[in-house]
Amino acid sequence: MLTRRDYLKQGVLAGCGLAVMGAQALLADPNPNLDARIGGRDSLKVHAHKYGRLAGCAVSAANLQDEAFKKVLTAQFSLVVAENAMKFGPVQPKPGVFNFEDADALVAFAERHNIKVRGHNFVWHEMLPAWFAGTVTKENAKRVLTEHILTVGGRYKGKIQSWDVVNEAIKVDDGRPDGLRKSPWFELIGPEYLEIAYRTARQADPRAKLTYNEYGIEDESDSAEKKRAATLALLKRLKASGTPLDALGIQSHISANTGAAFGKGLRELVNAAQAMGLEVYLTELDVNDDAVLDADEAVRDRVVAEVYRDFLNSALESKAVNAVLTWGLTDGHTWLNGMKSHKEKQPGRQQRPLPFDADYKPTPAFFAMRDAFDRSPSR
Ligand code: G3I
Repeated sequence: MLTRRDYLKQGVLAGCGLAVMGAQALLADPNPNLDARIGGRDSLKVHAHKYGRLAGCAVSAANLQDEAFKKVLTAQFSLVVAENAMKFGPVQPKPGVFNFEDADALVAFAERHNIKVRGHNFVWHEMLPAWFAGTVTKENAKRVLTEHILTVGGRYKGKIQSWDVVNEAIKVDDGRPDGLRKSPWFELIGPEYLEIAYRTARQADPRAKLTYNEYGIEDESDSAEKKRAATLALLKRLKASGTPLDALGIQSHISANTGAAFGKGLRELVNAAQAMGLEVYLTELDVNDDAVLDADEAVRDRVVAEVYRDFLNSALESKAVNAVLTWGLTDGHTWLNGMKSHKEKQPGRQQRPLPFDADYKPTPAFFAMRDAFDRSPSR
């Protein structure tokens, strides 16, 4: 396998002009052995902490069965989020019957290793259990919602750094003036489901930072601009009504080689959230490389790392951003390989979206992420 130095010597530079800057920056790192300079003081979490930030990643139940995963996790990250274990369906598989096994395992592991935990999520239109549609009605929806949040939030009271209380409530294409998604919770309760969820979450766990989490609000496209406007309008309405809300989660699912650019819109979003008194977390960072047609992994890694660098340089300009989590730790476990679009575009190819490859070797994205922490202003 090419070491990073060998690959760069070959001058294999792909993607945009930024690759040249990235390559020069990487050549400046005199480390021929990728593994020697990533632990301890050179870890992501230490570089993040130097500037008042947390570095984290999503963790699945299967990951916690993998010793190599746990070794890299504890060495590199100080914040974790359950990829699926705390979602409504996995946690309440039957009405009033709760399954906390996987969520408890993650919280216990994090406590043992002094790692903070994000909760994800109370309210979403996905991963609702099979019983939901036939059981939850306009008459009982508020009770189902509040009992779920009180039960789950109460169980982890004092142990959660922040909760994604509501996830992805905006869908401009649903055509509402307020941009709200016509999700099951919206159809059953109406727009007030949001305020009910946040007030209940505050009651369940007064110490958790209550977060609104959204995707598709990162780049300079028209669709992202429209979604940012609707998202900020929602946050302003919630704050104006006295709804307890502490943070904005920017999911940060990015695609390489799609022309996506980051700058003014992202900075304005972060600044507007900060002006409302909100913290900002980058909650689910990964870079989809399906559109990088070159099959050479070193080329794909270079392009992915440049997107990490470009995006994080814009996002981390603000001191309001105090946590960066990747949606997974290793390319060996990423939701992106299960996407229908991936199977259509790149059948048989494994995605390379994360800071560690399938063998737990740091990828150029690792170094790009660490460099971005070092370039960011101290909080
Ligand atoms: O656990 C079942 C298993 O028993 C069953 O055999 C299998 C086949 O049906 O499904 C398994 O559940 C899957 C689950 O992931 C665990 O692997 C679900 O079908 C699958 O839909 C679920 O996908 C998750 C997706 O959210 C939907 O909840 C992804 O892992 C997860 O990475 C993804 O994460 C979301 C964030 O929560 C919100 N932001 C977007 C992000 C990506 O979609």
